[in-house]
Amino acid sequence: MKRSLFLKSLLTLACSTVLAQAQDEIIVGEFASLTGGSASFGQSSHKGTQLAIDELNASGGVLGRKLKLITEDDQSVAGQPATIVRKLIAQDKAIAILGEVASSKSLEAAPICQQNKVPMISPASTNPKVTETGDYIFRICFIDPFQGTVVSKFALSKGYKNIAVLTDVKQDYSVGLAEFFVKHFTANGGTITKEQKYATGDKDFKAQLTSLKSGKPDAIFVPGYYGEVALLARQAKQLGIKAPLLGGDGWVGDSLLKVAGNALDGSFFSSHFSAEDKSPEVQGFVKKYQAKYTDVPDDMAALGYDSAMILADAIKRAGSTDSAKLRDAIAATKDFKGITGNITIDEKRNASKSAVMMTITGGAFKFVETVAP
Ligand code: PHE
Repeated sequence: MKRSLFLKSLLTLACSTVLAQAQDEIIVGEFASLTGGSASFGQSSHKGTQLAIDELNASGGVLGRKLKLITEDDQSVAGQPATIVRKLIAQDKAIAILGEVASSKSLEAAPICQQNKVPMISPASTNPKVTETGDYIFRICFIDPFQGTVVSKFALSKGYKNIAVLTDVKQDYSVGLAEFFVKHFTANGGTITKEQKYATGDKDFKAQLTSLKSGKPDAIFVPGYYGEVALLARQAKQLGIKAPLLGGDGWVGDSLLKVAGNALDGSFFSSHFSAEDKSPEVQGFVKKYQAKYTDVPDDMAALGYDSAMILADAIKRAGSTDSAKLRDAIAATKDFKGITGNITIDEKRNASKSAVMMTITGGAFKFVETVAP
């Protein structure tokens, strides 16, 4: 009898300790495309985010509490972000949400975070509408009016006067970036020869490419995601198109080159980060990342890492995980030394940062230049 009482109280003690520890953890929600058409985006951003969380916990956590990252996979499918972000907020009681890479996915989740007053930080969504959703929605990357200008200026500097445009109508990112590129390019003496469209998931682009080819462009701007871009680059080559392709950050990821092979040689795209950057911050990050995962970190990995570090920094400055205080602290982020550059959140909850231009030679990415805002 005595013994069972003792065991019972031991058990109660153990349970309450586990409970206290669990309650003491700061829950951070993350939604990402770990599978499906843009799996490379979600897998990379998640690895970077997790690396930051592990590092923070190894040095004691934040405000004396450990961070717990709960990650949900949206499978790259429209409709999923809303469902899983509701779950992260209502069921897991996440104090903040990190995600997504693709703008259309972030745009789906942002109104839910805003309604619930749970701060959301997108590591990589560049469409302006994302943060326009409301004052709880942030991003730590540049936006597409800047990115479109960077590519347009680069094209003009290369002497490309006539450019064709091929847009993915299913992605807010692609539609927006095409629009900002065209605006700058035509205002600065460039001509758009022809415009064509496709939709995420398409596999055959020959009709659009044939039409674009007939306009004899100097280059073709394709602000799409790597999956479709890789396929259409191969088809462009089969059709004898010699004009280089130009793109934006949606091209990023080894998956692009695995499918495209050498078909994108001589093409250019803009992005956020290059592992070739010799700065000690970037090289230190590359080393840590490779020690954990072996592969070389790409843009989404570095941005994912920065998003978690910025959140942790804001929690520290807020001295609390209270939603209004945390929102204000994220909004006040100034000169944060990130892996992807110095991050200051502006009054529109965006970050003004440099972009990098990259090229592809011999089936590999190569850094060209950094472009300041
Ligand atoms: N900027 C893209 C978007 O808004 C996503 C992206 C970011 C893709 C960085 C690759 C690298 O949809």
